Amino acid sequence: MIKPLGSDKLNPLYVMDDAKRAALVKEAEGLPSILVSSAAAANAVMLGGGYFNPFTGYMNVADAVSVAKDMRTTSGQFWPTPILNVVPDASAIKGAKRIALKDPNVAGNPVIAIQDVEAIEEFTDAQMAEMTKAVYGTDDPEHVGVAAFNGVGKTCISGPIQVLNYSYFDKEFPGTFRTAYQLREEMGKLGWEKVVAFQTRNPMHLAHEELCRMAYNDEKMDGILIHMLLGKLKKGDIPADVRDACIRKMVEVYFEPNTVLVTGYGFDMLYAGPREAVLHACFRQNCGCTLLIVGRDHAGVGDYYGPFDAQTIFDGISKNDLQIDIYRADHTAYSKKLDRVVMMNRVTDHTKEDFVLLSGTKVREMLGKGIKPPKEFSRPEVAEILINYYQSIQ
Ligand code: ADX
Repeated sequence: MIKPLGSDKLNPLYVMDDAKRAALVKEAEGLPSILVSSAAAANAVMLGGGYFNPFTGYMNVADAVSVAKDMRTTSGQFWPTPILNVVPDASAIKGAKRIALKDPNVAGNPVIAIQDVEAIEEFTDAQMAEMTKAVYGTDDPEHVGVAAFNGVGKTCISGPIQVLNYSYFDKEFPGTFRTAYQLREEMGKLGWEKVVAFQTRNPMHLAHEELCRMAYNDEKMDGILIHMLLGKLKKGDIPADVRDACIRKMVEVYFEPNTVLVTGYGFDMLYAGPREAVLHACFRQNCGCTLLIVGRDHAGVGDYYGPFDAQTIFDGISKNDLQIDIYRADHTAYSKKLDRVVMMNRVTDHTKEDFVLLSGTKVREMLGKGIKPPKEFSRPEVAEILINYYQSIQ
């Protein structure tokens, strides 16, 4: 199986030993504590599961700035986005060497991790602006990811962590949430060596389904890992339980048995386009995948990124830094001529009129009105689940 990033073996930070974990939970009760941001809690979940291998905790200011600027820490480890625990005010834990991190996303704010504090530093406004521009490609406060990144404060608490739970993810999505080490184990048992990962925050329409099938067949893969985001999305995006139901139905009806794993990971969407695509590649390598599908406007929002910027960013990344391959997909659309989904650059005899191009917004409008999207866009079984959901929120 492909090696994780930066080490031979995966080093998940979740404390697996039950007795040791129970002792840490007890210890946490007596420690100075701080309520962390949703982003910091999601980072703990990812570090806990081994997705952010080889990191052992939250970055300090120098590493965060260096990663944002050059996709490399000060000691040379490749990584595309800062892994931060940033708060508005750290006075509650001033002078503490060891602190409990409280989870904002679970009722009662239980402790999600214990952190050994290496430093408490302030980002300057200039550093915040520099990181924002480098990671998001814009500093527009209207950009949902930019707003989130700049809305949690500037006080950076760095240092290693021990993770005590996976927040709400394993309880809310018991059949779907997986850690990187669980996936390595599961795919190992299935004997999958060549695995293509599909990142998604959507219910998976026909274009998504066909992308998976194309990559699987073109690159002769052993299996497909559908790996959906289970964390926070922007307003208007479809909730994870609905997406999960749609994807499971589609796989059950339209894929060969034992070729697809339907799974998810606990992280909030950054909407950082190209940089997020690189992050997606890093943590898919960590969970054992050898190929990641990157299509049109991967992890994008609005018009901030060019449609294929999330592919060209990989041109500048060396195989020494990142071993997973990228399946670069052109825009997919339904061909009326061939009566199936195609990659547009593969059908050179087609004109614009030969394609059905439906925007997600248009389909959402249709669903809102109880109109089933056409067969060129969605499988009927998926459309049914979506209509029920949309009608339930009217
Ligand atoms: S996202 O998390 O990357 O934003 P989304 O669910 O929208 O997820 O898309 C999943 C993957 O499918 C991305 O790699 C995206 O680029 C690709 N994709 C979605 N629709 C198309 C399309 N019509 N043509 C090409 N690629 C697409």
